Amino acid sequence: MLTSGRPDVAVVGAGPIGLAVAWRCAARGLRVVVHDPDPGSGASAVAAGMLSPVAEAYFGERELTGLLCASAARWPAFAAGLTEATGLPLGYRTEGTLMVGLTADDLAEAGRLWAYQQGLGLPVTPLRPTQLRDREPALAPRVRGGALAPTDHQVDPRLLVPALRAAATAAGAVLVPQAVRELSELDARVTVVAAGCGAAALTGLPVRPVKGQVLRLRAPGGAAPGFRHVIRGYADGEHVYLVPRAGGEVVVGATVEERTDRTVTAGAVLRLLRAAVDLLPELAEYDLVETVAGLRPGTPDNAPILGPLPGRPDVLAATGHHRHGIVLTPVTADLIADLAAGGDPDPLLAPFAPDRFGPAHPPRQASVGPPEQALPGEPTGPVDGDRQTTEEDRWN
Ligand code: GLY
Repeated sequence: MLTSGRPDVAVVGAGPIGLAVAWRCAARGLRVVVHDPDPGSGASAVAAGMLSPVAEAYFGERELTGLLCASAARWPAFAAGLTEATGLPLGYRTEGTLMVGLTADDLAEAGRLWAYQQGLGLPVTPLRPTQLRDREPALAPRVRGGALAPTDHQVDPRLLVPALRAAATAAGAVLVPQAVRELSELDARVTVVAAGCGAAALTGLPVRPVKGQVLRLRAPGGAAPGFRHVIRGYADGEHVYLVPRAGGEVVVGATVEERTDRTVTAGAVLRLLRAAVDLLPELAEYDLVETVAGLRPGTPDNAPILGPLPGRPDVLAATGHHRHGIVLTPVTADLIADLAAGGDPDPLLAPFAPDRFGPAHPPRQASVGPPEQALPGEPTGPVDGDRQTTEEDRWN
């Protein structure tokens, strides 16, 4: 427990990334303080928790796919360590992910991606409709085909955050429930900015909010959902994912919108529900228990920003995780903790360095005079009101 004196590490943001960095640093004996007025209130509160390096291996993102795979490989030990440290549940499940196409056009679209993923050497097994239904009998009869990604797993972010918080504090990290408006407010040997979209205002990095709307359904009568795998569906041109939880919840997501508001729209609910029910008709009988929107921290190349700011070796970025915050939590925590402890940068970090976007830019909040020109891909208006500098807006 930190009692007095200058901390070794100040972490801004107590979402999964910030808490995991704090846990890893504190476990090494570093004195750690984490600043956030509302831990876990950002994107992780909305996120589905898919650990999907294979299903989310997209064209043109090879380096990101490598990092996703490296982090997913750390998840079993990370989850086991967290359970051992806290005894708390995580909802960590390893049934795998089924990727399915509803129509012939959907299957053709999905098939191109599966071929690309197989070409990278990733484990993707095509399945005929009968094989799909053997695995998930509740799938609609008109689903045309699919593929299995057996190593794509899931965790429940709403359980992960309390577990990480317990692990970090048990290891000696101190949580300070206050917002950080400027990095100059902090006095630590190293500062880690794990503030999601709020990193833009604190550091000038090109992190922008990318809105996602998500639904939560519940199986009637307290039953478990009628399917076991995570399902990623292509349904009449809509992309949807369905994540079953043991307690009966099904997460249905998500829109991807270049917007900064958190409004839930009728059109998005309609499209998500239609796609979900087209793939799994029994979902029409489930309770609709939550509609919610969150903001992913996007970057110009969809990849996270990890490492020292240009000209500021004492400030480490751990942000911009966009669609992959939960899966990238273990690798981010390990590699950022290495840097905070004074270690050499792991070669895995090289493609994700903050300086890939050019020289350092001053934080917007610290600027005076006329409004500065926005960075490429950076929001030009106010983002997310009073929580923008502290919440960790990243999800998976
Ligand atoms: N990775 C899923 C999402 O961001 O919606």
